[in-house]
Amino acid sequence: MGRIHRYEGEKIIVEFEFGRCIHTGDCTRDLPEVFNVKRAGRWVHPDAAPVEDVVRICAACPTGALRCLDKISGKTMHHVPVENSIQCIADGPLYVHAEMTVNGKTQPMHRVALCRCGASALMPFCDNSHKVIDFRDAGQVGCPLPGEASAAAVLAVSSTPDGPLMIEGPFTLLDAAGKAVGKSSKAALCRCGASKMKPYCDGSHNQIDFKAD
Ligand code: FES
Repeated sequence: MGRIHRYEGEKIIVEFEFGRCIHTGDCTRDLPEVFNVKRAGRWVHPDAAPVEDVVRICAACPTGALRCLDKISGKTMHHVPVENSIQCIADGPLYVHAEMTVNGKTQPMHRVALCRCGASALMPFCDNSHKVIDFRDAGQVGCPLPGEASAAAVLAVSSTPDGPLMIEGPFTLLDAAGKAVGKSSKAALCRCGASKMKPYCDGSHNQIDFKAD
């Protein structure tokens, strides 16, 4: 999704994929000694905090733009989540936390932000267009999923042309407050922004003549 910037520390390398970042500010707020865009020169300083703190903040980056590699082995320092989850963010995207593929491509991190307003130019990923179009949805889930317990397995996310996001694989659905509202292994989630049953697709993409790959 774009150039990857590498910031080497003594023991770790922090990678930053600019194209995935939607500037939530989580990293700069939670670990400003390491992530600081106001500082002159490079904005990531991996040695300015304990390694475990840098790894924890990178693992929590909601879009998967940040990741940590062990400097000696070159391997990722992040673990596959014990449970897959998809969270509706108020007036914003879907946050997916899982080992996953998106349109058949294995994702380098266990987190991505997916568009649900219909306006992203980076479909199916969020590019912050929800702010430009003033997308409004509280991220509540009126109709819980009746499902079975989820276990760790690779989640397959795919975008149907001019239609919803198809989810296959076990996941827990979370509302904007982070409350689990159900589990499932298959769902069609709205990405056009017009559904009256968000986060689920209700076919409204046909009425608004939604166009997206
Ligand atoms: S994708 Fe939005 S209603 Fe189907």
